[in-house]
Amino acid sequence: MSKRVAILISGGGSNMVALAQSMTDDHPARPVLVLANSADAGGLEKAADMGIATAVVDHRPYGQDRAAFEAKLSKTLAAHNPDIICLAGFMRVLTAGFTSQWQDQMLNIHPSLLPKYKGLNTHARAIEAGDSEAGCSVHQVTAELDGGPILGQARVPLLASDTPETLAARVLPLEHQLYPAVLRRFAAGDATMVNLP
Ligand code: GRF
Repeated sequence: MSKRVAILISGGGSNMVALAQSMTDDHPARPVLVLANSADAGGLEKAADMGIATAVVDHRPYGQDRAAFEAKLSKTLAAHNPDIICLAGFMRVLTAGFTSQWQDQMLNIHPSLLPKYKGLNTHARAIEAGDSEAGCSVHQVTAELDGGPILGQARVPLLASDTPETLAARVLPLEHQLYPAVLRRFAAGDATMVNLP
């Protein structure tokens, strides 16, 4: 039986689209829900166009009460009975209460070569540091922000002329290759590292 995948987004959802489009034919998983923390997330319409159920759990009415937001998030997810949760540009920090509930079932994509540059502004930080390469990582989600076991990485040379924008534009297409490749393995029960290119 296919694994059921829920994808959490905050924005345009290009990673979500890459994941959803990959789950066809003999793929061991299928998308069952795209959930956003804002009704404005552009990816919601793309998901609906692909015939995937959508939901919104807006974090704003919860203010500082992360536990209440996460309880609603978990309840909404549980209603769709996911085997795997993919964070795909989901811009909310998740606490241990949430991550422990979905332990070993949750993946995230992060635009740096982890363990470097956890958190925000990854490309600017890689340029600032004078790194010779940059890229993206897919990892399992634990309570430590961007800190769980790494399941895949994709690398690009960092050019002297790069700005955060030009680097982001080169890394994003790699994210779209890496995340589906890792998801396919993970859904098949294979935790072997994916290295691209
Ligand atoms: C990606 O760069 C992802 O790594 C990040 O936010 C961006 C999301 O883009 N953290 P999209 O919503 O998947 O298009």
